[in-house]
Order: sequence, then C-alpha cells, then structure tokens
Amino acid sequence: MHIDHIGIAVSDLESAIKRYEALLGTPCYKRERVESEGVETAFFATGESKVELLGATNETSVITKFIAKRGEGLHHTAFEVADIRAEMTRLKAQGYTLLNEEPKTGADNKLIAFLHPKDANGVLMELCQSVS
Ligand code: CO
Repeated sequence: MHIDHIGIAVSDLESAIKRYEALLGTPCYKRERVESEGVETAFFATGESKVELLGATNETSVITKFIAKRGEGLHHTAFEVADIRAEMTRLKAQGYTLLNEEPKTGADNKLIAFLHPKDANGVLMELCQSVS
C-alpha cells in the first residue's frame, strides 16, 4: 500500500530522539518497548509515513548485533499491507524467504513480518498490518 515507516538503528536512543525532533521539527509522539526483540522504539510522524528509531535494551538485542556489524543507520523499510497473511503467502509462493512463519506483534499496534534482506537487494523489509 505505502511505506508505513523506515526504521533506523541508533546506539543512544535519548540523544537520537533529541536530534530527530530538531531535524524533523516534530516531537516524538510515542515510545514503546518490544521486550521480545530487546528493542525500544521512538516514533515520529512525517506526513503519511513515520520514522521509527530503534535502540537496544540489552546486549543480545537484534539492534546491538546490527550496530556491531554495520554501524548505526537504516535498519528496515516497512510497508503497510491490508492482509499480512495473504502477502506472506504470496511472497513465499514466489520463493521469498520470510524471517518469521507467522505474523508477530510489533510496536505501534501492528502485526509484522520480515523478509530476508538477501531477497530485497540488501534491505530488510517489514510487512505490517494495523490492528485496531
Ligand atoms: Co518497523
């Protein structure tokens, strides 16, 4: 449907929030911890899309590993879809590798699933579906 948000891995969430508030000229409107991922997120509204800052909450977090390997920067691009299960089935049938078999609960009231970066020229793709 459209790009819902881009996720940016940061090593210091507090200072990154201040920086992005100044950069985007809009306050962080929501912070949320996703304990299962070892991640704390901070969201900024920018028109139709959002920016999601991702900080690690522990040493085994996916964000800790990502930053150790690649440094801070773009972590994923998320596309809003109407029916995440249907999209997962469609992509799987075409040979794409999904990183989770079932949609999982992410930040911002979403069901989410990730597509392996090797299938998208190096970009980690997130599918997300809003749940109300
Ligand atoms: Co995301």
